[in-house]
Amino acid sequence: MTRIPVDLARDLEAALDGRVSLVTASALLDLVSAEWLDRLVVEVAARRLPFYAALNYDGRVSFDPADPLDAAVIAAVNLHQQTDKGFGPALGPGAAEAAIARFQAAGYTVVHGRSDWHLLPRDHGIQRDMLAGWAGAAREIGAVSLPDAAAWLTRRRDLLAAGRSTIKVGHVDIFARPIGARAAERSQSNRTSSPSG
Ligand SMILES: C[S@@+](CC[C@H](N)C(=O)[O-])C[C@H]1O[C@@H](n2cnc3c(N)ncnc32)[C@H](O)[C@@H]1O
Repeated sequence: MTRIPVDLARDLEAALDGRVSLVTASALLDLVSAEWLDRLVVEVAARRLPFYAALNYDGRVSFDPADPLDAAVIAAVNLHQQTDKGFGPALGPGAAEAAIARFQAAGYTVVHGRSDWHLLPRDHGIQRDMLAGWAGAAREIGAVSLPDAAAWLTRRRDLLAAGRSTIKVGHVDIFARPIGARAAERSQSNRTSSPSG
């Protein structure tokens, strides 16, 4: 395997040139803008390539046990998700829906399904990091006050330390295939395998 570092915001086309048979992305589409997604779909569709994007955050987060401030914190996090992450204003939780619509409009068949994270009490490290990140984002976007964000983080950390915290984080996976790709592949393979003359 050869790894080639590319700034996708600038050099998307360079990442797609050459011998490519599938384009994949993981936990990326929610960072990109509507304009960049359009660019991606045009470039992928122009090459008639299949496209698989895993782990697109879709804005659904649920906690067990619940806290009265959960909804306000996650609403603020989802606003933060739509700020510029290097590609212009980000699609955030709307990324999967936007990608599905654009690939369908480009003549692709799209299958999609939920791929939620289920974080259990034993997933202590990732829960700790996510809770801190969410409290910071909610505070930074200004939708939750500093004392409220700090108090929420303390309560959630106490539950985590007590082995009582479960979190579900909504994600969607999508696979988009150009319509007629299978028929075209079959006909290409028949041509290659038939005797010449
Ligand atoms: C949420 S992480 C996902 C990482 C990994 N794909 C995964 O699923 O665990 C988002 C990734 O996007 C990459 N990224 C962000 N902006 C980028 C850019 N302009 N060009 C290339 N990669 C970028 C980051 O380096 C980071 O690895």
